[in-house]
Amino acid sequence: MEPIKIVDNIYWVGAVDYDIRDFHGYLTPKGSSYNAYLIIDDKITLIDTVKHGFEEELLSRVAKIVDPTKIDQVVSNHAEMDHSGGLPEILKTIGIEKPVYASKLGVQALGAQFQNAGLNLQAVGEKLSVGQQDLHFVETRMIHWPDSMFSFLPGPGILFSQDGFGFHLASTQRFDDELDEHFWGPLAINYFANILTLYTAPISKILEKAVSSGLLGQTKIICPDHGLIWRKDPGRIVALYQEWVQQKPKNKAVIVFDTMWHSTEFMARELTDALASLGVEAKYQSLKNVHRSQAVTECYEAAAIVVGSPTINNQMYPSVADFLQYAKGLKFQNKIGASFGSYGWSGEAPKLIQAELATMGYALPSPEIRYRWVPLEKDLGPIRDLAKTLAEAIKKAVG
Ligand code: FEO
Repeated sequence: MEPIKIVDNIYWVGAVDYDIRDFHGYLTPKGSSYNAYLIIDDKITLIDTVKHGFEEELLSRVAKIVDPTKIDQVVSNHAEMDHSGGLPEILKTIGIEKPVYASKLGVQALGAQFQNAGLNLQAVGEKLSVGQQDLHFVETRMIHWPDSMFSFLPGPGILFSQDGFGFHLASTQRFDDELDEHFWGPLAINYFANILTLYTAPISKILEKAVSSGLLGQTKIICPDHGLIWRKDPGRIVALYQEWVQQKPKNKAVIVFDTMWHSTEFMARELTDALASLGVEAKYQSLKNVHRSQAVTECYEAAAIVVGSPTINNQMYPSVADFLQYAKGLKFQNKIGASFGSYGWSGEAPKLIQAELATMGYALPSPEIRYRWVPLEKDLGPIRDLAKTLAEAIKKAVG
């Protein structure tokens, strides 16, 4: 397999995973890539590796440039398994004694993950010589693990940003000038919403520091561990991150629901139409055909999340509980919530959803809306009233 030259003596040598669809519970409909990079200098340096199972792909790309046993050192910017799982096998080939540099917490994490692999783990200082130049390290805790760090090579101005500024895409394209933002934009926000929402506060601080220290000003190319290399306009993805970390609500509502016999679905359709007729961008998300990770992506910039469920065994539908648990973990800020659902006997689900939304810190401008049995058109007044209440609350929130 071929390496891809980024600039003279620096190459992409990662792997493309065309088949992955479930990335720890997060849907990756377009697969992913595990980006790794090779610096050819007096000390040949490998930056990050690949998921276990893709070691041969990385080594075959390296072998097109240099004998893999000539690699002198490895830098691990992030200890998660999709970038470190291949370390033991790769080191068996290049030499188990070769140093693996990581942050202090990265050394701990890698040591715990690969207890019997005999890795020569070394904690980095501020910089590391790769020969004629130094690689500078920047601690980036919680983008998106405690161990995470960026590595920066000042000469060519390359920032190796591990998961930061990445997204999941398996493709033959490696650079931002090969794909349009209309294509990669939805993938980038999908990644941010699912992987980084919980950490917007620390990410905001890291971005501020990267600007004030001049790091981003010196950066000409960003090389993340997934997705495209930003060489045409690295400032664009940075600007999107600077916007996304603010979690500013937009004039948008997401109606997320499941249905048993189409009655809750009927309410969801009416609510979607009613919100749209009031000038709100309304997104209809049936959990029958939308994955939780896609639904939370739609929710990311929405001012309101409206959750609907029938009642089964005195509980909300399992798919709705799954969505709420996932969304709860992301800790969205500045959200308005509401709930609705039809029922036959006891009808607890909307109240249970409302209680869950309250624990998630959402503003609740309306009590839950329930309908017993099968609503007809004439029965949908409360849903239209809910739409009006939500539209007013969204208007106030958006300002
Ligand atoms: Fe791509 Fe957090 O690993």
